[in-house]
Amino acid sequence: MEKQNIKLGLLGFGTVGTGVVRIISAHQEDLQKQTGLGIEITKILVQNAEKSRHISSVDSLVTTDANEILQDPEIEVIVEVIGGIHPAKEYILEALERGKHVVTANKDLMALHGAEILNKAQEKGCDVFYEASVAGGIPILRALVEGFSSDRITKMMGIVNGTTNYILTKMSQEGAEYADVLKEAQALGYAEANPTSDVEGFDAARKMAILATLGFRVPMKLEDVDVKGISEVSKEDIAYGKQLGYEVKLLGLARRDEEAIEVSVQPTLVPKSHPLASVNGVFNAVYVHGEAVGETMFYGPGAGELPTATAVVSDLVTVVKNRKLGVNGRGMVAPYKEKVLKDNSQKLSKYFLRIVVADKRGVLAQITQLLADKNISLEQVIQQPYNNEGEAEIIMVTHISSKSDMDSVLVFMEQMDIVSKVKSCYRVEGGDK
Ligand code: NDP
Ligand code: HSE
Repeated sequence: MEKQNIKLGLLGFGTVGTGVVRIISAHQEDLQKQTGLGIEITKILVQNAEKSRHISSVDSLVTTDANEILQDPEIEVIVEVIGGIHPAKEYILEALERGKHVVTANKDLMALHGAEILNKAQEKGCDVFYEASVAGGIPILRALVEGFSSDRITKMMGIVNGTTNYILTKMSQEGAEYADVLKEAQALGYAEANPTSDVEGFDAARKMAILATLGFRVPMKLEDVDVKGISEVSKEDIAYGKQLGYEVKLLGLARRDEEAIEVSVQPTLVPKSHPLASVNGVFNAVYVHGEAVGETMFYGPGAGELPTATAVVSDLVTVVKNRKLGVNGRGMVAPYKEKVLKDNSQKLSKYFLRIVVADKRGVLAQITQLLADKNISLEQVIQQPYNNEGEAEIIMVTHISSKSDMDSVLVFMEQMDIVSKVKSCYRVEGGDK
């Protein structure tokens, strides 16, 4: 006789784990109608059994012994929401070894060890889904794998880190300093006590590596992603950007030209008219351009208990549906295209430059000559007095240049007597090209 419930082991009972318990309990009837089976949480792994939990009705399920879940033959699916690499990786591999399906929200693990985990899943005929790992509640991975399966994606631009978007939004809207807003974000619980992974762009880089792998069907690695965070973005950069018609965002960019790919995360100026410029606060968005479909954009909460848990439980529904159809482990398409990475001469972009120069005759001409020597022309220029010591600030937006040409301009500028400081250089994206 067909089972009425599928048994689930939950690894982790923090923010996301609590949301998973709530959604499974509140939506049980709907889930059953969609899959024909109930989802029954049989054990919940935690680190500290003494901690008081938000949901007391499942107190009896809590354990600190992972083997009670991993070695229980009745448990068919595990949800890993512990986070980090160890012991999450070992638990997932053991679960797969024992033929259990896996749902995880762990971007760190999937960005670093996704290929190993997916290979093991394929070998064992198991499902592994990780929708919640990128952009929390936005079903972007499913969109890339299923919704765009008939198209060829050329570009993805993502605001995929809520903490940094909150900081940049506050800096833009209130003219606040980076350090002050970071403190506020920590006090509100958006930024971690150690916010390095968020503010230095590593969290976004992991998510972009996952998006690029699925979107371009190429095995991207974390080290293929160029990363620069927001810790050096100043309120002046943001104010000048606004004056020139842009917002500054920590933008993940994955672009394919012919077969050559670039993936990066860096502070980027986005025209105010572009929909990504209006993505504010902790919200996330991913813009996807496909050869056939053209422009699309996905917007929503990138984190939080219930939004993230929704993605986890939707993955569970897919596991249960696959089980009913007898197709677990057969739906995954491994990256099948060769990885060809662009060199810096192939990475094309406009640039925003802010430099402090001597305020005297001919200086602007020397700067524009240097740019012209590298085939870079200017789209917009502002010159402002900088201080009372005879210096001025030049703020420019260039036309499209290669990264290699811009890098060599920066090296020359640093050596020019008339340039006392290159304050900032950021990519400009999202305009006409
Ligand atoms: P939390 O820190 O809130 O919860 C982690 C849970 O795992 C806790 O219950 C903790 O136990 C348990 N745990 C930690 N280490 C171990 C261990 N070694 N053995 C057993 N249990 C352990 O994390 P989140 O819920 O915020 O995040 C979980 C995952 O979801 C991460 O991969 C994260 O990146 C991802 N994610 C989170 C989002 C969010 O909004 N929070 C958004 C998108 C993804 P105890 O309770 O006893 O301390
Ligand atoms: N630290 C992440 C963020 C949480 O700020 O977006 C969601 O992955």
